[in-house]
Amino acid sequence: MSAVETVRVGFIGCGRMATAIAQGLIRAGFVSESHVTGSDPSASMRDAFTNATGSPVVAENRVVVSGSDVIVLAVKPQHMASVLNEISGSVEARHLIVSVAAGVPLAMISAAFRAGTRVIRVMPNTPCLVGAGATAFARGPKATEADATLVERLFSTIGIAIEVPEPLLDAVTGLSGSGPAYVFQVIEALSDGGVRCGLPRNISTRLAAQTVLGAAKMVLDTGEHPGSLKDGVTSPGGTTIAGLHQLERGALRGTLMNAVEAATTRSQELGRAANPGK
Ligand SMILES: NC(=O)c1ccc[n+]([C@@H]2O[C@H](COP(=O)([O-])OP(=O)(O)OC[C@H]3O[C@@H](n4cnc5c(N)ncnc54)[C@H](OP(=O)(O)O)[C@@H]3O)[C@@H](O)[C@H]2O)c1
Repeated sequence: MSAVETVRVGFIGCGRMATAIAQGLIRAGFVSESHVTGSDPSASMRDAFTNATGSPVVAENRVVVSGSDVIVLAVKPQHMASVLNEISGSVEARHLIVSVAAGVPLAMISAAFRAGTRVIRVMPNTPCLVGAGATAFARGPKATEADATLVERLFSTIGIAIEVPEPLLDAVTGLSGSGPAYVFQVIEALSDGGVRCGLPRNISTRLAAQTVLGAAKMVLDTGEHPGSLKDGVTSPGGTTIAGLHQLERGALRGTLMNAVEAATTRSQELGRAANPGK
């Protein structure tokens, strides 16, 4: 990845997600430490951000706005309205606003700023914290192709990043947003199976987690259909088909599809509750 030395990235809120993104950007050589700043009311969070990134931090959000080109809004959704109110008067035409707040729609963010402000809404997931995130993003009406490319590159430093239309962010929430919890349960259950068959717990959990990681890497690296990869390791009358038969009897695939659908529906419900009339 080539350096984008001239872009200055400011984080409003210096919590876990801001720190993970800032670390990813700096490690990838996307920007230098001096091109990143953060603001947070909590002194301990400011210290932790500086220790993790080497970048300067301040207590005042507007200082970050004036010293940045890209402003990443990384506060909890319940703090978003007051942050928008606080910084809106300081945002200029050169700024790109990037929100990672779950469930806060583009319309609400855009409405806080002067007409023409470029806004992109991002839905990252928890594995961003370990550099293996699955991020989707949607651009507001004024954001440009170059803005979308910048955000795609920015979040690619901590995983993969894919653009979708905003209405699909509920499905993204149901799949990759909530998905790590589904997979944690799968790993725990695989580990339980290993323990039931005699493996010590620590060995069983490590084997289960690495198996999920390895299988996921094969899907991403080969681009092959997962069903084809499954067929490739399923010999006639062998061990794997015996296990797969039990998964089919337990309706694993239908259950996971239902989980994604239920979480997507819940995300839509929460969005409607938070933004009545939309
Ligand atoms: N973590 C994830 O895996 C994940 C995944 C998807 C989306 N997100 C989104 O990312 C955003 C940040 O999440 P997070 O996990 O990084 O939360 P976090 O660790 O709690 O960080 C948020 C930070 O913002 C600070 N803050 C509160 N009010 C502020 C204000 N007015 N101005 C500036 N900073 C302020 C908080 O300080 P105090 O602690 O003092 O309040 C805290 O340090 C959320 O909107 C969340 O929906 C996170």
